[in-house]
Amino acid sequence: MSRPTAISFAEIKAPQRGTLVILAEEGGKIGAAAKALDKKAGGIITRAMKVSQFKGKKGNVLDLLVPQGTTLARLLVVGAGALKDYSEIDWLNLGGVMRSKLTGREGTEAQVIVEGASARPAIGANDVANLALGAWLRGYTFDKYKTSGNNDDNGSKALKKLVIQCKGAGAARTAFKRAKAIGDGVDLARDLVNEPANVLGPVEFAKRLKLLSKIGVKVEVLGPKALADQGMGALLSVGLGSRKPSQLVVMQWRGAGAKSRAKPVAIVGKGVCFDTGGISIKPSAGMGDMKGDMAGAACVAGLMQALATRKAKINAVGIVGLVENMPDGNATRPGDVVTAMSGKTIEVLNTDAEGRMVLADALWYAQKRFKPQAMVNLATLTGAVIVALGKEYAGLFSNNDELSQRLTKAGEVTGEKLWRLPLGPKYDKLIESKVADIQNIGGRMGGSITAAQFLQRFVNKDVAWAHLDIAGTAMDAPKTDTNQSWGSGFGVRLLDRLIADNYEG
Ligand code: BES
Ligand code: MN
Ligand code: ZN
Repeated sequence: MSRPTAISFAEIKAPQRGTLVILAEEGGKIGAAAKALDKKAGGIITRAMKVSQFKGKKGNVLDLLVPQGTTLARLLVVGAGALKDYSEIDWLNLGGVMRSKLTGREGTEAQVIVEGASARPAIGANDVANLALGAWLRGYTFDKYKTSGNNDDNGSKALKKLVIQCKGAGAARTAFKRAKAIGDGVDLARDLVNEPANVLGPVEFAKRLKLLSKIGVKVEVLGPKALADQGMGALLSVGLGSRKPSQLVVMQWRGAGAKSRAKPVAIVGKGVCFDTGGISIKPSAGMGDMKGDMAGAACVAGLMQALATRKAKINAVGIVGLVENMPDGNATRPGDVVTAMSGKTIEVLNTDAEGRMVLADALWYAQKRFKPQAMVNLATLTGAVIVALGKEYAGLFSNNDELSQRLTKAGEVTGEKLWRLPLGPKYDKLIESKVADIQNIGGRMGGSITAAQFLQRFVNKDVAWAHLDIAGTAMDAPKTDTNQSWGSGFGVRLLDRLIADNYEG
């Protein structure tokens, strides 16, 4: 992202110049500061609402340019519905809707007054911080390759500053510090997913992760030699057709303090920087989307950054397997048999089922080295999950009901929704191989489930584990109030919440 809008906080004091945003609740009710402004300006707000039959419905806006009786350039009335019923996501979305109307054309600074129409229930610091986070997330653009630089979103007329006025600005500022850490993590994940694969290969990705050491994350990069020494034949088999060397990056955040020997939570990501399918090559239509096949790894990166920035009281380890899946004279062939780090042999019947090969070794490594108390992996693993769930929910698979419920709950509160799909011995049978211990594809049916069964073969029974198939939600997902980007950054807010609510001491 190139030109972020700075967000700051101040006590309520209706400005005289530039752009002002106010909120209106159901029935067109406005708060005290807005009322005072309305009165001073000869009832312009109430009259405009009446004429346009604006009732403060959520998502509706009333846009007044050079409002008479004021020296403002623009007065934007944003419908908020009933603030008293607001959940966290409602605040987030309200911030997003508001931000979408602020292009900066009427001045590069905007002020918003956050107040309810009635004194109770009071708007809290977290509510304001969530509104601000929604505005922050909505303001993201990936325009580093646009050389024209003069459109509304990235030119000199972009919104540069957003001042949020509220009661208790200090508390809101503090609450936003934490929210902003998470927002920056989401933006990092989006940047990585949006970046084309000629720029972001495994080595460049690893380099970007190295930067996290500046904020206290311990980062180790394992190259092909080290991976071979570890016996990671499954992960390495994917990158054999690529000129770009495969990498595994281990990121450790030790924030648990006194409990610093507490077992970590491990988060593991699929980082296929580009997936052609390999020798089992994909059809050309839409193949460009496969630059985003590292969205799981991108989420791990964003999460680790968020945890370290907000100094989360937890020991967390993030592990990403970074490879490129290309067809080549040296590439893995369908029918090849490789040995994973766990010792299991895998018959590669389809080289396009490569994500599970990467994760097989990354998951095994995570367990062997770190003995995690819980382990979650994210992967753009199957097209089949999009067939099953569309792009509203990510698929959730787990060997542990408690972890599954925790994740589902975190999904509900953050709006990054998960839907659990089954695992079981009958599905597991579908990946038995004639020549090796297992094969890397099931059959035509239940493709997301057989992929998850494959992963489970590399998970110890006593480790609470969940697999999130984010193929539908992490890239090219439907645009929302808080995301207009191709790479959505899915999973960062979700896992930050999972950790905050369940694992932080
Ligand atoms: N990266 C793809 C899955 C994918 C597809 C993600 C579409 C996002 C959008 C994965 O590596 C893949 O190719 N999966 C195959 C598995 C099959 C060969 C068993 C698939 O889904 O078709
Ligand atoms: Mn593939
Ligand atoms: Zn893939």
